Amino acid sequence: MKRRGANLSIFGSFLFFALIAIVVTVAMFIFGYVNKKTDGDRTVIAVVMLLVIVFLSLLCTIGDLIRRRKTVDKPVEQILDATERIAAGDFSVRLPIMREYGKYNQYDCIMDNLNTMAEALRKSEVLKTDFISDVSHELKTPLTVIHSYATLLREEKDEQKREKYTVAVAEAASRLSVLIGNILQLNKLENQSVLPEKTVVKLDEKLAEVILTFEERIERKKVEFICDLQENIRVFTVESYLEIIFNNLVSNAVKFTNEGGRVEVKLKKEDENVVVTVKDTGVGISPEVGARIFDKFYQGDASHAKEGNGLGLALVKRAIDVLGGEISVQSKLGEGSTFTVKLKEVAPSEIG
Ligand SMILES: Nc1ncnc2c1ncn2[C@@H]1O[C@H](COP(=O)(O)OP(=O)(O)O)[C@@H](O)[C@H]1O
Ligand SMILES: [Mg+2]
Repeated sequence: MKRRGANLSIFGSFLFFALIAIVVTVAMFIFGYVNKKTDGDRTVIAVVMLLVIVFLSLLCTIGDLIRRRKTVDKPVEQILDATERIAAGDFSVRLPIMREYGKYNQYDCIMDNLNTMAEALRKSEVLKTDFISDVSHELKTPLTVIHSYATLLREEKDEQKREKYTVAVAEAASRLSVLIGNILQLNKLENQSVLPEKTVVKLDEKLAEVILTFEERIERKKVEFICDLQENIRVFTVESYLEIIFNNLVSNAVKFTNEGGRVEVKLKKEDENVVVTVKDTGVGISPEVGARIFDKFYQGDASHAKEGNGLGLALVKRAIDVLGGEISVQSKLGEGSTFTVKLKEVAPSEIG
């Protein structure tokens, strides 16, 4: 459990008790002394005791005031000041942990938590601005292409050239549309507080359906395709997320495999898990690139940069995280890569 810090009010109550005990004891001693000296003169005793009690109470009150200023008012002021700055958007605020009386108390704990919150907000602010600048950069490239070819098209009379420019505009527009589609998907995956409805999906059939959409590309690229799918495997999941995951993995495998290479998709059961492997004999991934492939907009292979936008694996990772699955990669540069996805198999009780 996270430590909560020593309770200052318990400490304050003990102090209050000790002060009362001291005041009463001292007053009793003085009473005894005055009583003896004045042979029981009540008026003198009353006046002296009144003065003594007023003086001692004043002394204790001033002492307690000084203590409170240091241990309560000062941290509360600092906390108020920090919350005002955070509310105004300044996430660089950091509060000093003071450890009054050598102890980590509840104010220190609040300050610690505020520091953690401010750091988290600062990080998410950095991520947001980075994301906006990445998106703007990615949007700019196809937009520039569309703008310049559209301008050329207006003046060009040669039919062949016009055809070439039209194709370029159409390709850039389609890249733009894929990019925006991916950004919207990512935004949905990251901000969805309620998961879309889960259904029981026959994974072998879903995989076959996904693979079929790549048939033409596989044939065009002359890549050998091996498909080994164990039948009747069901998962209780969000079907559209499965499409995101396997579309991107198969698309990458085909894209990063050169002519004459091989792509293999396998589905099998392993204990309560369902394991899908997408293996290729493509360009492979170096450990440095491998460490970043799930980052948004990261593209490790410059020669294929135009065919994607670096959001594919970011989407895959988030979809798998939301579904509670696992993904791992094994790869060797120049030899190929294997992406392994583990999902939970549906329990018979979950099938309606
Ligand atoms: N099967 C693969 N073989 C080699 N490299 C891969 C493979 N899959 C992904 N990568 C690397 O991971 C990067 C990120 O992948 P992804 O997010 O799908 O972006 P994109 O496909 O748009 O480049 C790729 O640019 C590439 O460097
Ligand atoms: Mg991709």
